[in-house]
Amino acid sequence: MLILGIDTSCDDTSASVVENGNKIISNIVSSQNEIHQKYGGIVPELASRRHIEMIIPVVDEAIKKSGAGFNDISAIAVSKGPGLIGSLLVGVCFAKALSFAKNIPLVAINHLEGHIISIFLEARPEFPFLALVVSGGHTAFYIVDGFGIYSELGRTRDDAAGEAYDKVAKLLGFGYPGGPIIDTIAAKGNADAITFPRGLIKESFDVSFSGLKTAVFNHLKKYPESRKEDVAASFQSAVIEILINRALEGARSNKVKRIVLSGGVAANSVLRKQVRAKAFEQGIEVYLPSEHLCTDNAAMIAAAGYYHFENKEMVDFTLNPKAYLPLGSANG
Ligand code: KG4
Ligand code: ZN
Repeated sequence: MLILGIDTSCDDTSASVVENGNKIISNIVSSQNEIHQKYGGIVPELASRRHIEMIIPVVDEAIKKSGAGFNDISAIAVSKGPGLIGSLLVGVCFAKALSFAKNIPLVAINHLEGHIISIFLEARPEFPFLALVVSGGHTAFYIVDGFGIYSELGRTRDDAAGEAYDKVAKLLGFGYPGGPIIDTIAAKGNADAITFPRGLIKESFDVSFSGLKTAVFNHLKKYPESRKEDVAASFQSAVIEILINRALEGARSNKVKRIVLSGGVAANSVLRKQVRAKAFEQGIEVYLPSEHLCTDNAAMIAAAGYYHFENKEMVDFTLNPKAYLPLGSANG
């Protein structure tokens, strides 16, 4: 069964055809990095305008590359939120129009669920597992008891981890997105050079990154001659320690034997190495999607769409996107 996935939740326009929820037939991602680079972050208005330009060519290419026709597509799965509302609207309006014009059923997917399900494109972790979704817009920990059964353990109280990466990269005078640049530059630095704060909220599984970002700002003001490589490495070490400690603590206290990472920050080379090593010490299995499936893509939306379509959870044309849409909530 072929599902066409569409994701325009943030700054990438993506469409993908996935077979039976686990086999990628085509996956097209059109990045907007070039547009937002000079601003050091995403400009929402520019993002929606670019989605409008790209949605038809991207969907066309995904269909063409799949070798299938619209007649072979069983359902269209589209991200309904959370994300930038103008960006989401482009994907949702396009998906509704295509569903109407071609008479193909429509399913609506929470973008965060897509990130969690991305692992099923490459592996088959047993339930239950702890999922850490860590991206530019989100940082949250969930216990996943099955497809569609998510309970949130904790989340960031302020910035997402990826947002902290992007903001610190801007403070250091690097480009956008900051995550991959810091990942590369930190490899040449000393992670123990500066001790930045680890923002863990007591008696909860919540985390915080805004204090860390301010600490980097204050450090650079006080010591403008600091080696950027050391600042990057020390900052990254704090982010990774926060994420890994909380994920392992969450798994242990919920007696869960495996953790699944997803979202753009899960592409980080040091995070990938350290989480594997630390989890191994504690007898916990780690599942990491390939880097290109950690960052936003429509294959993960098509994969999640397969399970919702199998459950006959189709939506009608009253579907509207939502910028704020916690996973596991009433309409989440
Ligand atoms: O999942 P994603 O593509 O979009 C959202 O849903 O937010 O994540 C993008 C975020 C950006 O903040 C980017 O800086 C970060 O993921 N990122 C990384 C790496 N690659 C992307 N952060 C750290 N290390 C990386 N290698
Ligand atoms: Zn995302």
